[in-house]
Amino acid sequence: MIRTQSYSFLTIYFFFCLLPLPNTIASPTRFLCRSDQRDALLEVQKELHIPTTTWNKSVDCCSWDGVTCDAILGEVISLQLYFTTVNSSLKSSSGLFKLQHLRELDLSHCNLQGEIPSSIGNLSHLTSLDLSRNQLVGEVPTSIGNLNRLETIKLHKNHLRGNIPTSFSNLTKLSTIYLSENQFTGGDIVLSNLTSLTSIDLSSNHFHSSISSYLSELHNLERFSAYDNSFSGAFPSSLLKISSLAQIDLSGNQFEGPIDFGNTSSSSKLEVLYLRHNNFRGRVPSSLSKLVNLYDLDLSYNKLEGQVPHCIWTSSSSKLEYVKLSHNYFSSFGKSLQVIDGATLKQLDLASNSLQGPIPQWICKLRALETLDLSNNHFTGSIPQCFKNFISLGDLFLRNNSLSGFLPDIFTNYTLLKSFDVSRNNLMGKLPKSLISCENMEFLNVKGNKIKDTFPFWLGSLQNFEILLLRSNAFYGPIYNSSAYLGFGRIRIIDISDNNFDGSLPQDYFANWTTTEMSNVKYISYGALEGPYSAPKDSMDLVYKGVDMNFDLIFNGLKIIDFSGNRFSGDIPGSIGVLSDFRHLNLSGNAFTGNIPPSLANITNLESLDLSRNNLSGKIPQGLGKLSFLSNINFSYNRLEGLVPRSTQFQRQNCSSFVGNPGLYGLEDICGEIHHVSVPTSQQPEESLLEQEEPVLNWIAAAIAFGPGVFCGLVIGRIFTAYKHKWFIISR
Ligand SMILES: *[C@@H]1O[C@H](CO)[C@@H](O)[C@H](O)[C@H]1NC(C)=O
Ligand SMILES: *[C@@H]1O[C@H](CO)[C@@H](O)[C@H](O)[C@H]1NC(C)=O
Ligand SMILES: *[C@@H]1O[C@H](CO)[C@@H](O)[C@H](O)[C@H]1NC(C)=O
Ligand SMILES: *[C@@H]1O[C@H](CO)[C@@H](O)[C@H](O)[C@H]1NC(C)=O
Ligand SMILES: *[C@@H]1O[C@H](CO)[C@@H](O)[C@H](O)[C@H]1NC(C)=O
Ligand SMILES: *[C@@H]1O[C@H](CO)[C@@H](O)[C@H](O)[C@H]1NC(C)=O
Ligand SMILES: *[C@@H]1O[C@H](CO)[C@@H](O)[C@H](O)[C@H]1NC(C)=O
Ligand SMILES: *[C@@H]1O[C@H](CO)[C@@H](O)[C@H](O)[C@H]1NC(C)=O
Ligand SMILES: *[C@@H]1O[C@H](CO)[C@@H](O)[C@H](O)[C@H]1NC(C)=O
Ligand SMILES: *[C@@H]1O[C@H](CO)[C@@H](O)[C@H](O)[C@H]1NC(C)=O
Ligand SMILES: *[C@@H]1O[C@H](CO)[C@@H](O)[C@H](O)[C@H]1NC(C)=O
Ligand SMILES: *[C@@H]1O[C@H](CO)[C@@H](O)[C@H](O)[C@H]1NC(C)=O
Repeated sequence: MIRTQSYSFLTIYFFFCLLPLPNTIASPTRFLCRSDQRDALLEVQKELHIPTTTWNKSVDCCSWDGVTCDAILGEVISLQLYFTTVNSSLKSSSGLFKLQHLRELDLSHCNLQGEIPSSIGNLSHLTSLDLSRNQLVGEVPTSIGNLNRLETIKLHKNHLRGNIPTSFSNLTKLSTIYLSENQFTGGDIVLSNLTSLTSIDLSSNHFHSSISSYLSELHNLERFSAYDNSFSGAFPSSLLKISSLAQIDLSGNQFEGPIDFGNTSSSSKLEVLYLRHNNFRGRVPSSLSKLVNLYDLDLSYNKLEGQVPHCIWTSSSSKLEYVKLSHNYFSSFGKSLQVIDGATLKQLDLASNSLQGPIPQWICKLRALETLDLSNNHFTGSIPQCFKNFISLGDLFLRNNSLSGFLPDIFTNYTLLKSFDVSRNNLMGKLPKSLISCENMEFLNVKGNKIKDTFPFWLGSLQNFEILLLRSNAFYGPIYNSSAYLGFGRIRIIDISDNNFDGSLPQDYFANWTTTEMSNVKYISYGALEGPYSAPKDSMDLVYKGVDMNFDLIFNGLKIIDFSGNRFSGDIPGSIGVLSDFRHLNLSGNAFTGNIPPSLANITNLESLDLSRNNLSGKIPQGLGKLSFLSNINFSYNRLEGLVPRSTQFQRQNCSSFVGNPGLYGLEDICGEIHHVSVPTSQQPEESLLEQEEPVLNWIAAAIAFGPGVFCGLVIGRIFTAYKHKWFIISR
């Protein structure tokens, strides 16, 4: 260990102290570097196009960027080229393999291409090999088995395939092996003899063995990650015999049958157990309580049934903080529960199970809860008053149950609350006054209840507020009040459609919605990378126009204004143009009058614009023709007139997007032969169109032939792959 320390000190020394080496010191006679070593490095430089500014011939090669030498012998013992974009492949004759004294080789993040040459086996002094990240292909050469001093091998995030070579059985000193995010299919059994292993990462490959048989001898193993593979068979309970094991992640595989903690070592150090997304069935055994150090348990997306395992909150020795049991068939909490005082639980996710009846009162004893998700169950009755005890709550999700009654006024001490979702229940009455205490709120969803209240102006003063969903309730009255400041600097989605809001909006209405551009970094860390989830996630739906959007869409910065289906009147505020990064705007089904504001042309990201079924008049601003992302336009049933803008975006629309505006012309390319798009009254329901004069019938047929769905296709196209499971090593 002393040796390792001394040369890592050297590495640091050379990196930070000697790099801008003064000419005076770098006189050729004082070079430490052995000439054969320098020549080999120069070959590497030529091959990999390493800039001469980093590796300068006139300077001692032992002081080159990333190069460390043995201080006495002048042999290169460490080469660290990570983040040097080389974009080329390693030849089997590469100068690299002449650096036979190398102990550490790090070519990670280099965009290294091609296969790993079998000459890698020449570097027999290697203790650490890192070829991780973006481009290696082919199989791992057998010759790596020669590197029998290897302690660490990192090959993750490449395109490697095939088996782990059997020659790996030679690597008896191997402590860390990272093979994640490749296309390996087998050979994992070779690991069974490598008893020095402490950390194994096989995640995101195509391994398909049944782990059970072969890992129990690895008595130094601390972390085993194998998520997103095709491992199958019974729960590998042999893993639990390894008393050193602290983290197990078997998520996203095809394990089946019961979970069995039966042979858990009595000295189990297990802290993290992720079994998400498998086919485990049956009840959770009470032996779960033997895992006395467990603090993070994820059994979600399985077929577990019966009672929610109560040792989670009744065992005084439980250290559990994060418990994810969602998407199973749990049907009850069991009887007479004695919740222990001082329960440590921070996250309880029971969403999408079959729980029913009233929400039990004892749950309020879990005072440390930061996230509670009871969505998609069959809970009835009202939200318990004792919920006021949850003063640490950041996320409260009660979506899609059958909760009724008033929303209780429990939020006085909820100063940490960020997300609150009670959508799709039968709640009535007003939004409770105490919600105003939730000064950190970012997300409020009460969609699909019977809430009868005025607009919650107080939200407009919250610094971090992003998403407001009031859709399909009985909200009423104006959404503008000259004595209430309304600025939504971070708003991403506001859907207040299908309510009874009315009144007109002043020209500067949107002026204070300055839409601060946000980095996505926050959202990434929110979701998966930081380990335990703390944000609304896939369980949250936002049905927007037939497209079920999961939270990833929102992470992606989707911006929506939906005021449709209310009774707004007056002009559309010209200030709407400040919302320059919004994508979807729906003001359909109101009583807006006046002209379409030309400032809409400033919303350059606009993809869908629905102004249908209002009383808008005048011309369609020609500038809208320049909105290159605009794929769905609906101006039907207004009193618009004049020439429709000539642009690809407009010409691509269905004729139905313009119906019900007798004064519009220039629609020949869109609607066929007719010259006027007319129906007798401007607010005609669509069905009655079929009774209109013949030309209209003709272009309706054309519209049907074109088919709908442009918008849906576009939005679906934007959905990027859901974070399935990104966790591996939690650094604590
Ligand atoms: C290499 O080092 C010499 C001596 O320090 C210096 O004069 C020269 O400019 C350097 N060359 C490059 C390409 O940096
Ligand atoms: C490396 O390759 C990528 C993709 O082929 C290219 O975009 C990039 O500019 C290349 N970088 C260098 C330094 O050649
Ligand atoms: C690898 O080692 C063998 C024998 O030790 C030698 O013949 C060969 O040239 C070496 N390969 C390279 C690329 O240095
Ligand atoms: C194992 O290492 C020995 C030298 O230590 C070597 O001779 C042998 O070929 C290696 N086996 C494999 C399969 O690489
Ligand atoms: C493990 O080691 C034993 C004895 O050294 C050997 O017989 C067996 O083949 C090895 N297993 C694997 C999978 O390499
Ligand atoms: C538990 O250990 C006993 C004795 O070692 C063994 O017979 C049994 O099969 C083990 N059960 C499991 C599930 O591994
Ligand atoms: C609501 O929950 C039920 C189960 O209680 C589920 O079947 C249904 O899909 C959920 N609906 C939505 C929109 O999430
Ligand atoms: C809020 O917390 C304070 C101090 O902890 C407490 O006195 C008060 O009763 C709480 N209010 C409610 C409504 O629970
Ligand atoms: C505007 O807000 C004030 C104070 O909140 C309230 O008294 C008044 O009734 C509101 N006006 C309208 C038109 O809603
Ligand atoms: C915008 O904010 C200013 C204060 O910053 C305020 O005076 C004005 O009334 C606000 N406008 C609207 C429409 O809310
Ligand atoms: C706008 O809202 C109305 C009513 O909610 C809906 O029918 C229409 O499909 C929406 N338009 C778009 C483009 O989503
Ligand atoms: C669009 O934005 C620019 C710059 O912010 C502004 O000068 C212009 O007046 C806006 N156009 C309209 C039609 O509002």
